[in-house]
Amino acid sequence: MSAPLLEASGLDLAFGAVRALDGVAIDIHPGEVVAIVGESGSGKSSLLRVLAGQMRPDAGTVLYRDPAGHAHPVHGMGEAALRRLMRTDWGFVHQNARDGLRMGVSTGGNVGERLMAIGARNYGGIRDEATEWLKRVEIDPSRIDHLPRTFSGGMQQRLQIARTLVTRPRLVFMDEPTGGLDVSVQARLLDLIRALVADLGIAVLLVTHDIAAARLLAHRILVMRRGQVVEHGLTDRVLDDPQHPYTQLLVASVLAA
Ligand SMILES: Nc1ncnc2c1ncn2[C@@H]1O[C@H](COP(=O)(O)OP(=O)(O)O)[C@@H](O)[C@H]1O
Ligand SMILES: [Mg+2]
Repeated sequence: MSAPLLEASGLDLAFGAVRALDGVAIDIHPGEVVAIVGESGSGKSSLLRVLAGQMRPDAGTVLYRDPAGHAHPVHGMGEAALRRLMRTDWGFVHQNARDGLRMGVSTGGNVGERLMAIGARNYGGIRDEATEWLKRVEIDPSRIDHLPRTFSGGMQQRLQIARTLVTRPRLVFMDEPTGGLDVSVQARLLDLIRALVADLGIAVLLVTHDIAAARLLAHRILVMRRGQVVEHGLTDRVLDDPQHPYTQLLVASVLAA
């Protein structure tokens, strides 16, 4: 197996008396989908933000491996390098599409902007690629000049995914990507994410409280509770034969729902 894209250990993070992260270790390899599951408040979003360099942990390290194989401490890279990384080798899909889209910029502009950020300059080429990506995420290309605020929540989320994936990042962070959506819309979006991820061979760190989503998408699962990873392993093993009582509860509550 190739070296991990991201490797973290010993992560601690406290907000006052709340231990959001408590000795967390995690890694992710190229092309792998790893789900971080757990109930609300267990530390999932904090972990994702620390891994993506958006928040500094109180202790622990996060190592990023670049395409040439060199490892860099994420929290020692500096703002500019981190922003560059987030435009190139990494992507972030927010739960709320508004946090990941520019609502005052056209649909095509939202996708094209990411291409321009990595050096694309040919207007026709950028527009063609944006059109291709709209089709890929099942948005009618005739809407390319419309503003995303005229879109439904599911469409906005699909546009955010197109905007993120157009630059072919190797690693994408997703925080509850289907969180605020109707159940029928969620299922369609999960199918789309699954197809795109398999097609592009990207690695995804997926935060979700939805066990069914984790089962559908993830190769491996980490279960978090009160800032700690209480169980981790291959998806089928964790969900079909959960060892920790908390994981057993999580799985059972889904079966009962
Ligand atoms: N910016 C913050 N300030 C204070 N407490 C926070 C902050 N962010 C998260 N927390 C607390 O840290 C814990 C973990 O939160 P979070 O990582 O958002 O969990 P999850 O994403 O699993 O719901 C919770 O108790 C939450 O209230
Ligand atoms: Mg969260």
